[in-house]
Amino acid sequence: MTLRTAVAQGAELLGKAGVAEARLTAELLLCHAVHCERVYLYAHPEQELREVEWIHYGRWLHERMQGKPLQYITKTQEFYGRAFAVSPDVLIPRAETELLVETVLARGKGAGRMVDVGTGSGAIAITLALETRARVVATDISTAAIAVARGNAARLGAAPRVEFVVGDLLAAVAAESQDAVVSNPPYVAEADKETLQSEVRDWEPARALFAGANGLDVYRRLVPEAWRVLKPGGLLAMELGFGQAEAVAELVSEWGHVEVAKDLAGIGRVLSCVKGLYPFRVQDSRGLEEVQSHGITASS
Ligand SMILES: C[S@@+](CC[C@H](N)C(=O)[O-])C[C@H]1O[C@@H](n2cnc3c(N)ncnc32)[C@H](O)[C@@H]1O
Repeated sequence: MTLRTAVAQGAELLGKAGVAEARLTAELLLCHAVHCERVYLYAHPEQELREVEWIHYGRWLHERMQGKPLQYITKTQEFYGRAFAVSPDVLIPRAETELLVETVLARGKGAGRMVDVGTGSGAIAITLALETRARVVATDISTAAIAVARGNAARLGAAPRVEFVVGDLLAAVAAESQDAVVSNPPYVAEADKETLQSEVRDWEPARALFAGANGLDVYRRLVPEAWRVLKPGGLLAMELGFGQAEAVAELVSEWGHVEVAKDLAGIGRVLSCVKGLYPFRVQDSRGLEEVQSHGITASS
């Protein structure tokens, strides 16, 4: 069987099974089996598959037809230009989450200490460590997820600046120790379970997805905990689920400079805000009061 025929047959099988982007998926699975880039399939269409390649390709086509997400088969997902290893123990990082990273890069300039709550594959924590000079603590309730994230940090060269902690939200983080708290928390309402794509509902970890009856349970606990661990002027940035901006904004009514960034679909996707009120007053050496702005505290 040649590469060309393998793609054609795979695409037909996937298409009949109702898999979206059947041809592209067949090509990516074949590349995974043959250990090549997509362009290679077009450059060498007459190349014969070896038996082992054909066996792997057949198995992966079958898995994809059963609904297993492509990324759990190829064990990789790109995020912010880097390849992250993924397994069914972690959420597959989403493109929307890059907006959360961009928000922190823009609003958290100079932040020396950050914490990523619910790190999963480590996509956010590792990207922030590599894109800034910050030291990042990455927490997750799942031991298996932390193992995946640790592997990614080592492979991507971020290990020296990311510390991984298994634990509940920010329980392991000291008070007033951080310049930024970042999180893409679970935010799907239990009530919406049946409306989720089966690929997500049946394959991605439930504790990465669901957060109580209306999806707000983790935000409710995270906001006061973030206040505790942030230094005055520190930044809190959280990804939002569809239609949650208003409810989450209410949870941060005591915070300053609240902003909601919209994604490409126009959905309020990232809420960010600053600990403390603006402006604040300080006394100088002569006892005179002056008004200053809080900023993210410089690296310490
Ligand atoms: C939506 S996923 C985000 C994963 C990753 N940060 C990303 O954006 O791709 C939420 C993550 O939070 C973790 N999580 C859920 N409840 C938690 C808790 N109470 N404390 C810490 N992590 C939690 C889950 O295990 C999961 O890895």
